[in-house]
Amino acid sequence: MRKPVIAGNWKMYKTLGEAVDTVLALKPLVANANHCEVVVAPVFTALKVVADRLEGSNIGVAGQNCSTEVEEGAHTGEVAAFMLRDVGARYVIVGHSERRQHYFETDTMVNKKCHAGFAADLNVILCVGESLAQRDRGVAEQVVNGQLSGGLNGLTASDLDRIIIAYEPVWAIGTGRTATPEQAQEMHAFIRRVFADRYSDQAASNLRIIYGGSVKPDNIAGLMSQTDIDGALVGGASLQAESFAKIVNYK
Ligand code: PGA
Repeated sequence: MRKPVIAGNWKMYKTLGEAVDTVLALKPLVANANHCEVVVAPVFTALKVVADRLEGSNIGVAGQNCSTEVEEGAHTGEVAAFMLRDVGARYVIVGHSERRQHYFETDTMVNKKCHAGFAADLNVILCVGESLAQRDRGVAEQVVNGQLSGGLNGLTASDLDRIIIAYEPVWAIGTGRTATPEQAQEMHAFIRRVFADRYSDQAASNLRIIYGGSVKPDNIAGLMSQTDIDGALVGGASLQAESFAKIVNYK
């Protein structure tokens, strides 16, 4: 049985005080959510304080990004995966479309970040997804397949337990336009087949594939009813404790 993951990606929102207020409000609202892993991804500067406030709770903490470099060194402005782990993060998001689009991250960079995350013993949430133009051209699967093979290059059997794939069609992120549960299911099933071909049926059936792109309290249940959707990566609707809790408690 795959345990769903519901992760809130706070992007570049919230001061330290706001981040703390949000998790303190969230904690009691999701305290009984044993059906899934609950994760929040604050900005780097709030990670340590948020992780401290969440210690002993059922909410895990994620970094939104990490350096391609595994070791410390002269890399101004970068944060290493092991430093995320050091401040209490247990997950890291890599290859988010905003980073691919606006910060020109390539599959090679995303791949290095995956390996840095594994080396630091983090669960890696690897984001993939096509643009609207790519979907309209009929090459969505090809694009996702390319991102998977680039991003997962050199992954070992032991890394497979720690990878989570987030399918986030770019046209659905922050647009209010969600993929239909059927559209999402179709791509999730495709991703699972890619894993079966690349690794094994067992690896494919254990893999958690979460959906992201305008997930809201009123569309989560429909998405979660699909066989291959194992959770959600939530942006806008994760910023308020109440709406994120509604998504976590979708059952
Ligand atoms: P959204 O963002 O829920 O605001 O569309 C999702 C994401 O970017 O991870």
